[in-house]
Amino acid sequence: MIYFDNSATTRPYKEVIDTYTKVSLEFFGNPSSLHPLGKAAERLLQQAREVAASLLGVKTKEVVFTSGGTEGNNLAIKGTAMQHRGRGKHIITTNVEHASTKETFRQLEGEGFEVTYLEVDSDGVVSVDQVKAALTKETILVSVIHVNNETGSIQPVTEIGGLLRQYPKIVFHVDHVQGIGKVPLHFAASNIDLCSISGHKFHGLKGNGILYVRDGIRLYPLLTGGSQERGSRAGTENVAGVAAMVKALRMSKERSAQAIKKMAEINSWLERKCLEIPGVVVNSPNPRAPHILNLSVPGIKPEVIVQALAEHEIYISTKSACASKHAEPSHVLLSMGFSSDRASSAIRLSFTYDNTMEEAEAFVEAFASVVASLKKVVNKQ
Ligand SMILES: Cc1ncc(COP(=O)(O)O)c(C=O)c1O
Repeated sequence: MIYFDNSATTRPYKEVIDTYTKVSLEFFGNPSSLHPLGKAAERLLQQAREVAASLLGVKTKEVVFTSGGTEGNNLAIKGTAMQHRGRGKHIITTNVEHASTKETFRQLEGEGFEVTYLEVDSDGVVSVDQVKAALTKETILVSVIHVNNETGSIQPVTEIGGLLRQYPKIVFHVDHVQGIGKVPLHFAASNIDLCSISGHKFHGLKGNGILYVRDGIRLYPLLTGGSQERGSRAGTENVAGVAAMVKALRMSKERSAQAIKKMAEINSWLERKCLEIPGVVVNSPNPRAPHILNLSVPGIKPEVIVQALAEHEIYISTKSACASKHAEPSHVLLSMGFSSDRASSAIRLSFTYDNTMEEAEAFVEAFASVVASLKKVVNKQ
């Protein structure tokens, strides 16, 4: 099997599953319970928070455990909008966001917020000047995806954060779900107030994430109830999932420097080789994140390519996983100026630390033969 769909999700590390099992069995108490079992679970949760904070380079109290990237983005964006709506109702994002941000902004538009969707250039990137030009006295939030999940385009997050230093009342949120462990980002140096990550993108389990909430930033909670997560997210904590995610984060951080280089090599080698296949074009820009390569074979339906490769036990995506069931052209590629034909025929390869050059070679061989045979079928029609 060749698994090149790591931006959709990654296979959990065995150690992660072991941690999950051990914690589930041995620390099953509710962290809010007063007896020793509860206290032990609470201590473990606190330790996990400390380790997560040190791995992310932030304070322990700035770590809020969530159910993943979607919740992190919703909590950051709606939580800020609701908290500060008395001060202003203008919010800014880009037009290449993940659905969990895009749909959240759309929902807020319906609630009377004014949204500026920044347009990207042909590399899928916005500029600091565009952000500056969009700011008004009413602006309360800027939310930007760090690494685009379809193309690997990297937004100038640190520069945008630098600009926003002059506007301390504007909250800056970054969706770092595809960046973590792949494209380093320093939260404090980038003046980030809120930052979402998701455990299953770095070999943790689905349903666990972290929202970094900078000390002093207040969010209107979306889930109310108990006082867990310092009141910003009620609900009994998923202690085993958290411990497993922190394990995955540590393992990823230990390996990232070397692995980033290796993924980048595989990525650019694949770009070169895929371009040699007649009819294949590359949509990802250069430079880009090391783990994503977006291609199109105009004229051939991408889902047919995905299924044909699956017969060779090679797994890839069309667009992003959550958008792949919709046949419309990719909004990200359209925003970059690609034709509808090209934006409707995109496939995404996405890598992780354990992918190898041998897998890349086997992929190119299978891909070339799949494209050639599908082209024959199309030409006959
Ligand atoms: C950029 C980005 N943001 C947010 C998410 C949502 O994360 P989750 O699957 O943990 O809800 C994803 C998942 O694909 C993503 O790629």
